Amino acid sequence: MSKKTPQSKTVFHRTALAKKLAERVMTLSPGATANSGLFLSAPRRTGKSTFIREDLRPAIQATGAIVIYADLWEDKQADPGKVIITAIRSELAKHDGVIKRLAQSAGMDKVSLGGMTFSLDRVGLNQGISISGALAALSDETQKPIALIIDEAQHAISTKDGNDTLFALKAARDEINSSLHFGLHIIATGSSQTKLAMLRNSKEQAFFGAFILPFPLLGQDYIDWFCAHQEFSAQLDPKAVMALFEEASFRPEILGAAAVKLKYDLELRDEDVATRFAEEVRHQIKMLNDALLGVVNSLTPIQYAVLKVMAETGSDYAPFEAATLQRYKAVLAEHGAEDSVRADVTSVQQGLNALIEKSLVWKEARGVYALEDITIADVMIKP
Ligand SMILES: Nc1ncnc2c1ncn2[C@@H]1O[C@H](COP(=O)(O)OP(=O)(O)O)[C@@H](O)[C@H]1O
Ligand SMILES: [Mg+2]
Repeated sequence: MSKKTPQSKTVFHRTALAKKLAERVMTLSPGATANSGLFLSAPRRTGKSTFIREDLRPAIQATGAIVIYADLWEDKQADPGKVIITAIRSELAKHDGVIKRLAQSAGMDKVSLGGMTFSLDRVGLNQGISISGALAALSDETQKPIALIIDEAQHAISTKDGNDTLFALKAARDEINSSLHFGLHIIATGSSQTKLAMLRNSKEQAFFGAFILPFPLLGQDYIDWFCAHQEFSAQLDPKAVMALFEEASFRPEILGAAAVKLKYDLELRDEDVATRFAEEVRHQIKMLNDALLGVVNSLTPIQYAVLKVMAETGSDYAPFEAATLQRYKAVLAEHGAEDSVRADVTSVQQGLNALIEKSLVWKEARGVYALEDITIADVMIKP
């Protein structure tokens, strides 16, 4: 059972799901690639990080493993490779024995010797102590398996350091899953199938062969909990709210915002609660879509054309192919801009760069492009 904390009331816990997942992910299956780890995929804002922090992390710890958690979204400015290494270092720092081992392997017989101190900065890429060495020391010292959770892992392949860190993790995974140590299990989340597929493609990648599990979205049991915890005098009907939740693409924040609106409507009459709640949910959905549309409408014609064609094409998008250039032209023509704006390689490249700058487009280090957030596709393509 999960402990009661001050936050317990604001989060719907999925303890049984977490326990099941934790047990499966921490069991090594026979066959090398089957041990590659697990990918949880679901659209943005549907509760992946909350589930990991609130339920999965404690459930994995309860199996007797060490959990290291790195959220690559938390600080978008930080290099994803550094975020992963920082998370590993802060776990190492909790274990004196591990630090001693690492200091010894770095040629010091004590942690502090003749004024020289061993610093965990030495753990990382080309810093003297490899990620593999550090995690192996952690595994040996604690005699526990390690679970490394990387949230929004697709960010790791958008920079060179991020990519290099994943290669280093692959080496660590192979080493620590050998019979010499206690096992390293990598769990990752991501919000787009296109990007996840890229993460699994390369044999040298930490995620090569990882199993992709569509993250189970919140369902009726969450809605029942949500309805039972509202402070209006009249009860919401869980069946009706479930239908609204689907309309909201399973994003809990939309229901939450609607509930807050009603809570502070001091004139609200009991008989109006159900209708007003439905109105507010739809209003919230519309506001989110309008906000996105506002961003989209402020783009230059070429940026708009590039984004639209990318949204329509999905994973086959090839920005500079002749056929794609023709499609940009067609979109420009729809907006009467085909004469004033050119759709050539240079202008498309500039458009892509601007879209990356605006966080609308994501670029993999080697040059594959995808939408940062797939809800843009819904907003742009729907009539
Ligand atoms: N189990 C839950 N119970 C209550 N609210 C939730 C739950 N999961 C998600 N939320 C709400 O939805 C928001 C988005 O969830 P988050 O975990 O950040 O999604 P993701 O990581 O998939 O983008 C959170 O800020 C929280 O308000
Ligand atoms: Mg998240």
